[in-house]
Amino acid sequence: MNPHVHESGPRENATRGSVFFIHGFPFDGSMWEPQLTALPEGWRGLAPDLRGFGRSPIDGDGCTPSGKRMGAGIARPDEPVLSMACLADDVAALIEREADGPAVVCGLSMGGYVAFELMRRRPELVRGLILADTRATSDDDEGRENRMRVAQTVRAAGTRPVAQAMIPDLLTERTREEDPEVVEKVESMILAAPPETVIAALAGMASRHDSTADLPTLPARTLVVVGEHDTITPPATARAMADAIPEAELVVIPDAGHLSGLENPGAFNAALNGFLGGL
Ligand code: MLT
Repeated sequence: MNPHVHESGPRENATRGSVFFIHGFPFDGSMWEPQLTALPEGWRGLAPDLRGFGRSPIDGDGCTPSGKRMGAGIARPDEPVLSMACLADDVAALIEREADGPAVVCGLSMGGYVAFELMRRRPELVRGLILADTRATSDDDEGRENRMRVAQTVRAAGTRPVAQAMIPDLLTERTREEDPEVVEKVESMILAAPPETVIAALAGMASRHDSTADLPTLPARTLVVVGEHDTITPPATARAMADAIPEAELVVIPDAGHLSGLENPGAFNAALNGFLGGL
């Protein structure tokens, strides 16, 4: 599968290294534009549209998404499932193709779940890890039931009701009232996500591994970032995760909710660029 990739510049720019940004659900690589345009000299940023999202096809070479084998009962047997392992293999293939040596990987929320899977499968590809607004734990029964309800809504009515329901949880009240460009950006990404992909990713997230036991031995320098007002993966969750990772740094992004890199790019980029400077 050849993903569509949002890039900060050509490969020659990566004299200090490359950063691969992994988007959350149900967005695409364009959510990382504020980071791609502000990377420090010597760093090249690449933000793929994950399989099925943005301009990337859901099928093609690599893993074969299939609801027959897994999907926590959310995907029907004839519907595809996007497992975190499948998405991690796609990111691994992109790193191998585009980077000269191990890269920095920055995953937000679902992107963090993918990053955990990448660390389990291909740790040699990662020299630094940024876990943004994400969690190490897997879904509990309530979380899986909620995903089942969302999948049913998407089958019946598409992604518009999902956008309406999600935006108040994703963005702070201030962003929603004072930053219409960000609201519009988030809404347009959700509306553009194909229903088939949304259901496939819900099924994949619902059946993801619990990564808590991996935290004490994560084999890369790690930065944990969280929006001050993130209610989906709150600061307390991020703090517990950072405490379990040896020498991990935690940065709380003020005036931001779950999409901290979009809501407060200045503070997010300061944390990101500081981390890159220390590698
Ligand atoms: C995300 O932003 O990727 C989602 O909140 C992840 C999830 O639904 O668990």
